Amino acid sequence: MSFLNVGHKINIDIGNYCNLSCPNCMRSSISKSYNVENNNFQNHPYLNKSNITLENIQNWVPKKFLNERVKYVDFCGALAEPTLSPHCIDLVKYFSPHVEVISMSTNGDTRNVVWWKELAKVADNLVVRFYLDSFKPGNSLYRQSNSSRIIEHIEAFTSFGGKAILCNLVFKHNQDEIQDFKDFAKKLNCNYRMMVAREFTTNESTSYEVDYSGKKYLLEKNTLIPSNVPYRVSLNSTNPSEYCSLVHENMIRIFSNGLVMPCCHIEGQLFETYENFFIDENDTAPNLTRHPQFIKDFVSKIEMQGGIKTISLKYNSLEEIFNSNFYKTYLPLSWKLKSNEICQNCINGSRLDIKDENEYNNPLIVDIPKAG
Ligand SMILES: C[S@@+](CC[C@H](N)C(=O)[O-])C[C@H]1O[C@@H](n2cnc3c(N)ncnc32)[C@H](O)[C@@H]1O
Ligand code: SF4
Ligand code: SF4
Repeated sequence: MSFLNVGHKINIDIGNYCNLSCPNCMRSSISKSYNVENNNFQNHPYLNKSNITLENIQNWVPKKFLNERVKYVDFCGALAEPTLSPHCIDLVKYFSPHVEVISMSTNGDTRNVVWWKELAKVADNLVVRFYLDSFKPGNSLYRQSNSSRIIEHIEAFTSFGGKAILCNLVFKHNQDEIQDFKDFAKKLNCNYRMMVAREFTTNESTSYEVDYSGKKYLLEKNTLIPSNVPYRVSLNSTNPSEYCSLVHENMIRIFSNGLVMPCCHIEGQLFETYENFFIDENDTAPNLTRHPQFIKDFVSKIEMQGGIKTISLKYNSLEEIFNSNFYKTYLPLSWKLKSNEICQNCINGSRLDIKDENEYNNPLIVDIPKAG
């Protein structure tokens, strides 16, 4: 089985910097566990170190590959803020002519109005998703960001013709603001999407404690909007080739160090297993003391074909990676044999956002749809 197709969606982290530390972001969780084991590190040592350059991208995702196989590119990723990359605009310019839509997900709390106005003019097919937690001062309990600055940046971007989607993760602390979000989106003629935070998509927990600059508080699940169920459940399927994002969404997921990950659901475990490799790129040995199920379902297969470098764009092309045994044979075979428990219980979600027939949806703005 080959995952290499046409009409792919590339989801990429273009660097590993961020100015925020949202409590359930992978950068916060990996930093937290690293601190517990190593003391005194604010951030994980992998973080805030590197950005993908234009030259990297020209080699990793050549124009020919884009033209033949890619429909959408999304600067979203797992643990970084794309607008902090000094190459952000150059990378948008590189991808834009070769794809239908290029999009990015941002906390909006970076740069200045001049930069956001410049970004608005870079590409007609660029769509930016701005995440805003709350309009109320001191109420950005998830993102802990500066709402008035974000609002200024969205206004600057849209006033210069930028296509924007206003997004918010709905928690209890901001659920009374949904109408304000809709009104603001309408005023700016942009789209609006609300999502349930992924930590609350199961019914296991309804709150957790956050420690922010010495202040402790509870972050609580919203009480108005139900969570969406995983594709596996909505499709009533036990076959990962029907619900895996590699197939169902035609996804290619590229990490900031060039690793081509199968999906976002295993990135944290992959990171922790190959932590030393992430830090210095020398020590490729996996740490086999954690995540036993993940070791069995994924790491054993990666090691069997030669180790972590075999799925890195620093050493292989995208074609070589997707034609490697891991992607071409071992992973699909484990699905067929139903021997891969992680994939069998896949939490790949129907998008977390709530479909809402909304009049504030600007038909000129396409969000990054399912590739196919
Ligand atoms: C890690 S972020 C990177 C992009 C950018 N820094 C941002 O925050 O939008 C990738 C995506 O995860 C989303 N995200 C962050 N925390 C989340 C949560 N608790 N539940 C669901 N999505 C979340 C972000 O909004 C973004 O769309
Ligand atoms: S802004 Fe994005 S990358 Fe930064 S901590 Fe929050 S979710 Fe993570
Ligand atoms: S957990 Fe497995 S089936 Fe689910 S998206 Fe990831 S690789 Fe695909």
